[in-house]
Amino acid sequence: GRNYDIAVIAGDGIGKEVVPEGQRVVEAAARRFGFSVDWKEHDWSCDYYARHGRMMPEDGVEQVRGSHAIFLGAVGWPNVPDHISTWDLILRLRRELNLYVALRPARLLKGITSPLAGRDAKDIDFVIVRENSEGEYSSAGGILYQGTPEELVIQESVFSRRATDRILRYAFELARTRRNKVSLATKSNGIKIAMPYWDERFAAVAAEYPDVEANKFHIDILTAHFVNHPDWFDVVVGSNLFGDILSDLGPAVAGSIGIAPSGNIDPTRTNPSMFEPVHGSAPDIAGQGIANPIGQIWAGAMMLEHLGELEAARAIETAIETVLSQGGPRTRDLGGSAGTIEAGKAIADALA
Ligand code: NAD
Ligand code: IPM
Ligand code: MN
Repeated sequence: GRNYDIAVIAGDGIGKEVVPEGQRVVEAAARRFGFSVDWKEHDWSCDYYARHGRMMPEDGVEQVRGSHAIFLGAVGWPNVPDHISTWDLILRLRRELNLYVALRPARLLKGITSPLAGRDAKDIDFVIVRENSEGEYSSAGGILYQGTPEELVIQESVFSRRATDRILRYAFELARTRRNKVSLATKSNGIKIAMPYWDERFAAVAAEYPDVEANKFHIDILTAHFVNHPDWFDVVVGSNLFGDILSDLGPAVAGSIGIAPSGNIDPTRTNPSMFEPVHGSAPDIAGQGIANPIGQIWAGAMMLEHLGELEAARAIETAIETVLSQGGPRTRDLGGSAGTIEAGKAIADALA
């Protein structure tokens, strides 16, 4: 039968609470749809850092490279500066495995009420396609005249034609499978070199897709449109930082950051893609068993879709919506009082 080797990095905080629920639901899908999963767990995290002085072993990337996919929870804890915990683990995996697309759906599920009054499922269904390999996330730069009144910090952003064009093309291809519309997040009125460049590449790539409607918005007004006109959007493409910001805002208008999934995809399929919720380790609620597991569970569905288990992926999404719309257990961020495990079990049961 079909078997998948999945590397698991639960990470820190609520990552350790929601990952087992994601695994529970993927296991339930495996039983129902006749495949199996071998999980290989890695304890890479800020705890690991406390013991070893690094977030993962030197050959960590090699340890996961042979798997079919990576299932990640969340990384980050107050004992390690965030820029170290992320650059030494999550950003390292994204880059060294060439996971250059971050695919982040924002969809109002059945059974969830949007914080936007009067909006229902037909109004909020878009996907953020985030450039995931370069851009504003860069270690180029430095601090000059440190400790003097002239202290000066220079942080370079890096935009290659290769990475810009491939993410734009991915967005247009994706739009063809959806509602044929791509919106670019830009800021060419202020970011004088890089964002006019994005506009120019966007126009060039758009010309290859005359059947797809292409429009662009400066990132500032785009955030307002997400709130006031979420129905305008189908595929939204942007740089690493813009995509990061939009992919917390999108899920928030679709109900809760706790439900949002993310795929870090290598479209060439040379390396395993990595699936994780959009949210972080949530130190403010960690250890209480109240985190919403749906972001992790939905990420599990995206992982199965990527692996070709389309029926299983759809069934998980349906199970989430069934539980939510039939008054099943929901966590506090969605107005309920259920714990993480109860919410996860209900979805696994709905699937069985
Ligand atoms: P966060 O997403 O961890 O938390 C933001 C807020 O959302 C908190 O109030 C939290 O309680 C709430 N929240 C998040 N997920 C939830 C869930 N599943 N259920 C219910 N409520 C939820 O963002 P942050 O506070 O900016 O970051 C905390 C740490 O996580 C930092 O170390 C950061 O670097 C890290 N982080 C990691 C990832 C990742 O691993 N992919 C993503 C974002 C942040
Ligand atoms: C995300 C997170 C990460 C990012 C952090 C943890 C580096 O916010 O996955 O959205 O900014 O990419
Ligand atoms: Mn983010």
